[in-house]
Amino acid sequence: MLKIAVFVSGRGSNLKAIYEKVPKSKVEIAAIVSDKLDCPAVKFAEEKNIPVYFVSTKEKENFITYFNLIDELKRMNVGLIVLAGFLKKIPDEFVDAFENKIINIHPALLPSFGGKGMYGINVHQAVFNSSAKVSGATVHFVDKIYDNGKIIAQRAVDISDVKSPEEIAERVLKIEHELLPFVVEKFADNKVVIENNRVLVLE
Ligand code: GRF
Repeated sequence: MLKIAVFVSGRGSNLKAIYEKVPKSKVEIAAIVSDKLDCPAVKFAEEKNIPVYFVSTKEKENFITYFNLIDELKRMNVGLIVLAGFLKKIPDEFVDAFENKIINIHPALLPSFGGKGMYGINVHQAVFNSSAKVSGATVHFVDKIYDNGKIIAQRAVDISDVKSPEEIAERVLKIEHELLPFVVEKFADNKVVIENNRVLVLE
């Protein structure tokens, strides 16, 4: 059984996809971590009785620091951290504490259209403006640089006929909801391996 922590900041549709699509016999969502006290993702976690931690770089009421969160997640035996719409940058010491155990979903085909400020509709607007004919979703390892870690899995979608960035967002989100649960389950099955400096997702 793989225990995971899912980090969220907003709508939580990817969290919901993991909850609904990954078999509970393989993966337990042991904790939700949010930087926002009140958002739909946190509401979802509360409805499902999943423990919620509010995280901050500073010490403040109702929040846990990243430093203490490391201990807490290790104590719970969390083996994978999934960033699913988490908007804050993960501090370096947290990345070091969970080397190759933090993954993120990005709503474009990295290494294009990533980096600081590239989140939400900004990503789809940039893709739209570029006149690219395909977009997609990328799941990658998290390192100390935004959207820079090694790519684990990607799925593409045709956007040659879209009329707006919102339309791209809608098509990509559908794919995200397939790709992220797929990758999480692969981690649970120990099917994600690093070989020759590349990440392989085995059958
Ligand atoms: C998704 O598009 C994800 O790729 C990005 O942020 C968005 C989060 O959506 N990192 P949700 O909160 O999972 O609905």
